Amino acid sequence: MSADDNGLLAEQIAYYRAGAAEYDRPYARYEELRRLLTLVDGLPVGGDVLELACGTGQWTALLAERAHSVTAVDMSDEVLAIARTRTPFSHVRFVQADVFEWRPSRSYDTVFFAFWLSHVPPARLPGFWDGIATMLAPGGRAVFVDDGPPMAAYEEGVEEGPVPTVLRRLDDGSSYRIVKVFHAADTLTADLTARGWTADVRLLGRNIVGVARPTTQ
Ligand SMILES: C[S@@+](CC[C@H](N)C(=O)[O-])C[C@H]1O[C@@H](n2cnc3c(N)ncnc32)[C@H](O)[C@@H]1O
Repeated sequence: MSADDNGLLAEQIAYYRAGAAEYDRPYARYEELRRLLTLVDGLPVGGDVLELACGTGQWTALLAERAHSVTAVDMSDEVLAIARTRTPFSHVRFVQADVFEWRPSRSYDTVFFAFWLSHVPPARLPGFWDGIATMLAPGGRAVFVDDGPPMAAYEEGVEEGPVPTVLRRLDDGSSYRIVKVFHAADTLTADLTARGWTADVRLLGRNIVGVARPTTQ
């Protein structure tokens, strides 16, 4: 949208590409995160599933257990290589693409994204949600998980502003600025309602979990 956020989005993807080998560490380290993964069983995930920003496939494997098919998209070849190894199932297909640009040629029963919404710059949210609406089959739902406001306390270099950012570091000492919006459950629900969605977003511990569908469907 703006030159500013293009630069940030490039730095964000560079961070995930360079840090692919370190990405799974929090899943091994934090019980809270592992518990969150078990949530998938209670969420309305099914049919043909599209997963945006799938990363190393932590969620993809769980989605695959419940889905007829999974199409999992990420920009980073480095994380996709790990995801492919973790999820070697014939009904799972990986696509290397920029989710801000990519549009599927079909619709899906579930569009799932974990820890992705917080990386979408606020000015891009209307386009992001409109895009999701076009990807959903009639009766389909967007299902998402992310960091809630309490997680801001664990970030370094938090900067508010039109595009909120935090600083992330990798083992080699390199640092990257990435977009990080800690959506509050109630304001996100209100925003989605105002955009024509029926949404249920809840704070669960330090995370948010949401289910939303276009109200007209
Ligand atoms: C916080 S990780 C989430 C990964 C996974 N969903 C999870 O919860 O473990 C964000 C992911 O977004 C991917 N990503 C960043 N920018 C992207 C873009 N423009 N298009 C597609 N994927 C992108 C990164 O490669 C990374 O895998």
